[in-house]
Amino acid sequence: MTNRTIGYIVGSISSTSINRTLAKALERLAPEGTTLVEIPIKDLPFYSVDHDGNFPQVAVDFKQAIADVDGVIIVTPEYSRSIPGVLKNALDWAARPYGQNAFHNKPTAVIGTSGSGVATAVAQQHLKAILSHFNAPTLGQPEGFIQTTPGLFAEDGEVTNDATAGFLTGYLEAFNDLVDRYAKVPASA
Ligand SMILES: Cc1cc2nc3c(=O)[nH]c(=O)nc-3n(C[C@H](O)[C@H](O)[C@H](O)COP(=O)(O)O)c2cc1C
Repeated sequence: MTNRTIGYIVGSISSTSINRTLAKALERLAPEGTTLVEIPIKDLPFYSVDHDGNFPQVAVDFKQAIADVDGVIIVTPEYSRSIPGVLKNALDWAARPYGQNAFHNKPTAVIGTSGSGVATAVAQQHLKAILSHFNAPTLGQPEGFIQTTPGLFAEDGEVTNDATAGFLTGYLEAFNDLVDRYAKVPASA
């Protein structure tokens, strides 16, 4: 059995984030041998090129956390038909300084939930464009558009609906396949 460590980034810093609950659901459903660990973003300051010569420790740690995992799942809400600013800020830290992009060759997947039927699809398209620019191989199918309905997730991430639980399990298995395909590609730029 292949052991994999998958990092996840939650694109919301809300204390009541439904996307964090979705991330917890993914943690619970991870296939045997796969461990999901959070890569936190909430303490990152705003990125500026002024930092390029001397990254703060929190940003160094953030980039190292990406380097340390076999793949990264980004679990994000949609804000104003795009990704939240806190997530974009984190991605900018990951990409810099120029030539030291932490996502280069890093297998990635995107997923998200909202109460609306759009289910973060527009935000995910924007996010995929950014990851493509980063040269990060990204899971194409299945697409992780999850519409949250009342009671779908318990607070601890338990999924109450078998079809949704089955979908999320299949999603994680598909991502593991992508991770394995790129396992021999050096991740550093
Ligand atoms: C500033 C802002 C913009 C939003 N824009 C969208 C949007 O474009 N599409 C959407 O489906 N929901 C939108 N929503 C609703 C979010 O999907 C909802 O607040 C969701 O709970 C956010 O995810 P979170 O709980 O993980 O933070 C927006 C919410 C906020 C606060």
